[in-house]
Amino acid sequence: MEIYKILYFLMILCYCILDFNNQALAAKNCEFPAIFNFGDSNSDTGGLSAAFTPPNPPYGETFFHMPAGRYCDGRLIIDFIAESLGLEYLSAYLDSVGSNFTHGANFATAASTIRPQNRGLTEGGFSPFYLQVQYEQFQQFKNRSQKVRNQGNIYREILPKGEYFSPALYTFDIGQNDLAAGFFGNLSVEEVNATIPDIISQFYTDFKSVYDEGARSFWIHNTVPFGCLPYVLANLPVNASEYDEVGCIIPYNKVAEYFNQKLKETVVELSKELPSAAITYVDIYTVKYRLISQAEKYGFEYPLVACCGSGGKYNYNSSAACGDTITVNGTETVVGSCENPSVRVSWDGIHFTEAANKWIFDQIVDGNFSDPPVPLKMACHKFA
Ligand SMILES: *[C@@H]1O[C@H](CO)[C@@H](O)[C@H](O)[C@H]1NC(C)=O
Ligand SMILES: *[C@@H]1O[C@H](CO)[C@@H](O)[C@H](O)[C@H]1NC(C)=O
Ligand SMILES: *[C@@H]1O[C@H](CO)[C@@H](O)[C@H](O)[C@H]1NC(C)=O
Ligand SMILES: *[C@@H]1O[C@H](CO)[C@@H](O)[C@H](O)[C@H]1NC(C)=O
Ligand SMILES: *[C@@H]1O[C@H](CO)[C@@H](O)[C@H](O)[C@H]1NC(C)=O
Ligand SMILES: *[C@@H]1O[C@H](CO)[C@@H](O)[C@H](O)[C@H]1NC(C)=O
Ligand SMILES: *[C@@H]1O[C@H](CO)[C@@H](O)[C@H](O)[C@H]1NC(C)=O
Ligand SMILES: *[C@@H]1O[C@H](CO)[C@@H](O)[C@H](O)[C@H]1NC(C)=O
Repeated sequence: MEIYKILYFLMILCYCILDFNNQALAAKNCEFPAIFNFGDSNSDTGGLSAAFTPPNPPYGETFFHMPAGRYCDGRLIIDFIAESLGLEYLSAYLDSVGSNFTHGANFATAASTIRPQNRGLTEGGFSPFYLQVQYEQFQQFKNRSQKVRNQGNIYREILPKGEYFSPALYTFDIGQNDLAAGFFGNLSVEEVNATIPDIISQFYTDFKSVYDEGARSFWIHNTVPFGCLPYVLANLPVNASEYDEVGCIIPYNKVAEYFNQKLKETVVELSKELPSAAITYVDIYTVKYRLISQAEKYGFEYPLVACCGSGGKYNYNSSAACGDTITVNGTETVVGSCENPSVRVSWDGIHFTEAANKWIFDQIVDGNFSDPPVPLKMACHKFA
């Protein structure tokens, strides 16, 4: 950690001196021409929505003013990443209408896991587009987009140039649903914990597959404090002694921390094994836990209560979830949003609000929670 910091400051210093002398060798911003993203609903910009059913209003109300394929009231962290790199919001690979992939594609779908699951969406389970499938879609996209682009016409305007793939930024945010699959599948804490090495080993394999296609710059988010999510708190209660002072469930967070520890070990291993890859590990867990545990300090409120939802201490009921139409006392109503989503942390009990996503993005963009501590715009450089 310390050595990275020193190298980083030397690099900045070096950059300033060289820049001052107007020389060419300076470490410049990366100028990523494209982003290719893999993940779950934390970064799905329309995949599951296009493949199956779009979310209902009030999803999307804050920014897009209509449902926009995102499980949020507005933008996601991946949207803020794209904005800050000067790129368009990512189109979902699975979206066949109106997509423009000039500057990247998004393979993430909501409810995706790293490992394949045997319970499908219709059984309350998971997306069929688990990480290996997302990789295979990427491989097809890379190959077929070039053949089609060579036909000219409109295809030159909506598909990326072949030379964009290698210098693009490859982002990952996945794993939360592997934990959910265990906990909601009635496994004990110890049993879920014991699945983690295998989950991470699958991540390792899929990561290498993406690398083998020529990807070199990677930005990897670790997983959330699972025991702080309203849908977990509402559905998987534990004995009073197992809540921390914030109200989060300690053993579930410990399992998430173990996932992150193994993920980080794997990233270190991959960095050694693949010397031409620049891999940045981003500690989203700590940022999200900080926001939840000190919400008031940062201008937020009710961090454990869903903004859009209904019922109970956490305002979450999976049978009357955000955007669902329910019948109360013989009258149909839509489960709607809270008054002010801009001061809330949790949008629908599972996903963060746009306001929270923006706050989280602002924390991570400069590299303060990254290892190595590289800012987003320099995530193509190797510091180790
Ligand atoms: C790309 O597609 C061609 C023709 O369909 C196929 O022969 C080739 O193996 C593919 N390449 C990769 C890397 O998938
Ligand atoms: C696709 O996006 C690129 C880059 O923003 C833009 O130049 C191009 O005009 C867009 N094409 C279409 C058909 O929207
Ligand atoms: C978990 O246990 C509950 C209660 O016994 C049961 O209703 C539910 O179907 C189980 N879930 C799974 C995925 O096995
Ligand atoms: C998970 O497993 C690891 C490795 O065996 C262990 O160190 C850790 O305490 C376990 N965590 C929980 C919450 O069971
Ligand atoms: C609470 O603790 C008791 C006694 O240790 C145990 O039998 C019970 O299953 C626990 N309940 C939950 C929800 O963990
Ligand atoms: C959850 O919502 C369903 C459907 O509106 C309702 O029947 C049920 O009573 C609610 N459960 C709780 C615990 O409020
Ligand atoms: C439904 O009706 C009951 C009995 O009249 C009333 O107490 C309750 O507040 C009503 N619920 C809603 C949401 O209007
Ligand atoms: C990152 O850390 C530096 C040094 O501790 C601090 O000055 C800066 O404000 C931090 N950036 C953010 C976005 O918190």
